[in-house]
Amino acid sequence: MAIFVFDAYGTLFNVHAAIARFRSQAGPEADRMSELWRAKQLEYSWTLTLAGRYADFWVLTERALDYSLTSFPSVDKALRPKLLEAYFKLGAFPDARAALRALKTKGHKTGILSNGSPNMLKGAIDAANVGGDLDAVLSVDSLKMFKPRPEVYGLVTDHYQCKPAEVTFVSSNRWDVMASVSVGFRGLWVNRGKLPDEYFDFPPRQELADLNELAAFD
Ligand code: LAC
Repeated sequence: MAIFVFDAYGTLFNVHAAIARFRSQAGPEADRMSELWRAKQLEYSWTLTLAGRYADFWVLTERALDYSLTSFPSVDKALRPKLLEAYFKLGAFPDARAALRALKTKGHKTGILSNGSPNMLKGAIDAANVGGDLDAVLSVDSLKMFKPRPEVYGLVTDHYQCKPAEVTFVSSNRWDVMASVSVGFRGLWVNRGKLPDEYFDFPPRQELADLNELAAFD
């Protein structure tokens, strides 16, 4: 039995699935708007945490969307409530459910460690129908600070009462893998976009093209 813990947004849930539902209405700058939405959401989480402040991830998601819609006036602002509703019920990547199922079938523990608020995580987990294959859903909200603070990763070892080396942490966010490796987890980087590597002081144990490759791990 091993412990596999997943990042949520970008790893299990596709953050660009919201805009994908409205791409034709959103126009030619839809994808750039969605990229900025994600970038600002993360930036706010980092800057607030550095400043010793906190607002929950759903609030940051709303503020980041407002900034992005203002930055791309060609995208109709009337889409705001629809995009937020879609974000609350984001779809999972096609390989996510099968990967969780396969790990559970092998008797492993599976969990989520996410910046997401408990409420939005529940929305996404229910929409993707993956709750039955997750033992734990850990949100930074209990600490009121965001990744990559080391205390956040400590939620995992506290929950499972285990040593860091016993945790396999799976994320598509290279900075998230960096922080997990920094605290002693076995970090796996899901590099769906074939991005260049970075944070060379904290390398992943392995880079995966997608979650299907988890089948090779025990
Ligand atoms: C999360 C962010 C990193 O789910 O997307 O924690």
